[in-house]
Amino acid sequence: MSAPTAVVTGATAGIGAAIAGDLAGRGYHVVVTGRDGEAAERLAAGLPDATGAVLDVTDEGAATAVAEAVVAEHGRLDAWVSNAGISHMAGFLDISAADLDRTLDVNVKGVFRCGQAAARAMLACGSEGSIVNLASIAGKSGRLPYLADYVASKFAVVGLTQAMAFELAPHKIRVNSVCPGFVVTPMHERELGWEANLRGTTVDAVRQGWIDDTPLGRLERPEDVAEAVAFLLGPASAYITGESLAVNGGTVMD
Ligand SMILES: NC(=O)c1ccc[n+]([C@@H]2O[C@H](COP(=O)([O-])OP(=O)(O)OC[C@H]3O[C@@H](n4cnc5c(N)ncnc54)[C@H](O)[C@@H]3O)[C@@H](O)[C@H]2O)c1
Repeated sequence: MSAPTAVVTGATAGIGAAIAGDLAGRGYHVVVTGRDGEAAERLAAGLPDATGAVLDVTDEGAATAVAEAVVAEHGRLDAWVSNAGISHMAGFLDISAADLDRTLDVNVKGVFRCGQAAARAMLACGSEGSIVNLASIAGKSGRLPYLADYVASKFAVVGLTQAMAFELAPHKIRVNSVCPGFVVTPMHERELGWEANLRGTTVDAVRQGWIDDTPLGRLERPEDVAEAVAFLLGPASAYITGESLAVNGGTVMD
């Protein structure tokens, strides 16, 4: 029996790289994807059973090409993680139409395009697959500064996850999302700088504020997210669909 296959988007850095590594360690054949194909191949080369592929989630048709290639090569598509996402920080009144479009194109339309591509491929090969979308604490609470377009995008991911889960349930395809908090990644480092600038304070002060906002008292590691994603992809969550799982050290409870 061939290994289960998993595609991870935006997997060349941060949370996506941790998810790819975690799934490879659990016996999946992982397709590491990113805008930079060479970076994806480099990361895949360091994993036990993985390949790299170019996938820009804003590119219509790109997700379909990857999903179809996986089915053609392996005969199965078991798991898809829509991780790629972007953020930038500005006050609500300063966010331009172009900023809003860019955020929604990657964070919402990217998840939508990838979800369609993954589900169609799973249906085509008869796989009872599982899809996980990366939402955020910003998908559960708008009480976050300078992130209005990002908040809108992540609430949309939570809603889209439910709609996908509802329509795909008769095909035994499960769809869930995870909602991380303050995860130490390149995105996090950029946000520390932006928020310090916007608040007129230091990066250290912003970082300490984020730790103080986290009841478990530490920043989140990409591996904390990867563990939750693996749970939602695997058989232990067989009866869970449409869920948006908080993985945030208690920062936002609902
Ligand atoms: N870091 C956090 O604190 C945090 C918290 C909650 C949710 N998230 C979400 O988790 C996901 C990963 O975040 P991260 O912190 O690792 O971010 P990151 O910026 O460190 O990495 C994101 C990855 O997505 C890729 N990407 C961006 N646009 C893309 C596109 N159009 N097509 C394909 N790939 C693209 C980037 O190249 C990068 O590899 C995102 O969806 C983010 O919104 C992050």
